[in-house]
Amino acid sequence: MPHSYLTSSLPKSLTHLDLLAMKQRGEKITCLTAYDASFSALIDAANIEVILVGDSLGMVIQGNPTTLPVKIDDMIYHTRCVTKTCKRALVIADLPFMTYATPESAAQNAAALIQTGGAQMVKLEGAKIDIIQFLVAQSISVCGHLGLLPQSIHQLGGYKVQGKLAEVAEKLLMDAVAVQKAGAAILLLECVPADLARQITEQLTIPVIGIGAGKFCDAQVLVVYDMLGISTGKRPRFSKNFLADTNSIESALKNYANAVKTGEFPTTEHSF
Ligand code: KIV
Repeated sequence: MPHSYLTSSLPKSLTHLDLLAMKQRGEKITCLTAYDASFSALIDAANIEVILVGDSLGMVIQGNPTTLPVKIDDMIYHTRCVTKTCKRALVIADLPFMTYATPESAAQNAAALIQTGGAQMVKLEGAKIDIIQFLVAQSISVCGHLGLLPQSIHQLGGYKVQGKLAEVAEKLLMDAVAVQKAGAAILLLECVPADLARQITEQLTIPVIGIGAGKFCDAQVLVVYDMLGISTGKRPRFSKNFLADTNSIESALKNYANAVKTGEFPTTEHSF
């Protein structure tokens, strides 16, 4: 039927434009990671606006010490699992380590996450301005990722807060502006001081998602296994176990969404 996309009765999934409107209204945006169909359905049913198929799956699903061993086929498989049951949330999928070293490889791998995985947007780490510009020119929606970059862990020398020194903070602010200018639709900030995240969030017009970046970001994300207290090892300071005070995963997800919406999470205890 001609123009059926204009009259489709399929349930509407959120787009980056909905998130932009939320930022403009000052309404907090919620995001969680998911890697499979069951969690995706539960998170979506809790009205969380964004699902991130993070390459953190290399750690929480595959049991590796870093995200570096994750392959593009792993990301495609888990993204496909997530998008099968997600009806409303915007789905962002991570481009794993070394899959976006050149514009061509970035476009090919991003296309696979979108065409086979069903993602609406891809996320990549670092101020890779030429790669972001190239993807955006191919009509691919991009989420930038600055601050702590887990794929650069060997260069960084550990999972440390980034931007505590004035010159590093200044560079992060400039990178954030450049990522937006290159055409990114969303920026994720990981483990940066809350005051720097506030400056970046105020300066950018695109939504800023924070993890360990304080309460002033437009959106918050957590690794779903961390916020349900089912990760092995030490819980990161910026995370909170939302299952500890309730008896079902559904209510833990709803309590998380509510805490972000009302500004009760994160507190200074979860920030740097
Ligand atoms: O891979 C991931 O889960 C991430 C986190 C920052 C949420 O990128």
